[in-house]
Amino acid sequence: PNGRLLKVTPSMLAAHKTAPDDVWMALQGKVYNISAYIPFHPGGEKELLRAAGKDGTKLFNATHPWVNVDGMLEECMVGILVSEGEAKV
Ligand code: HEM
Repeated sequence: PNGRLLKVTPSMLAAHKTAPDDVWMALQGKVYNISAYIPFHPGGEKELLRAAGKDGTKLFNATHPWVNVDGMLEECMVGILVSEGEAKV
């Protein structure tokens, strides 16, 4: 991370859903650029990309609540998820 975390709204998130180079996903309130991780997902790219550009928390928790996404994707964090209209500081 570069120390600058973005406030990301759902519509900003939805603008980043183009695999393989531009995929963001919100998980547990944090927004990650998961592009680099896509080929490494043990559950496959297709499953992972179901939540491309979206909040994948429910799908994530339904499949593997034990996976430590914070630890795995720390370097890929781009910001925090906020509600629409809350983006500009
Ligand atoms: C498996 C990570 C998102 C579906 C796994 C495993 C890891 C992982 C580490 C292996 C778990 C184990 O064997 O104990 C991640 C990360 C995600 C993510 C870091 C977010 C960036 C998702 C999403 C879905 C999903 C959004 C569903 C739409 C699956 C499935 C498996 C799996 C179905 C099981 C594959 C199998 O064993 O047959 N994932 N996952 N994952 N993941 Fe994910």
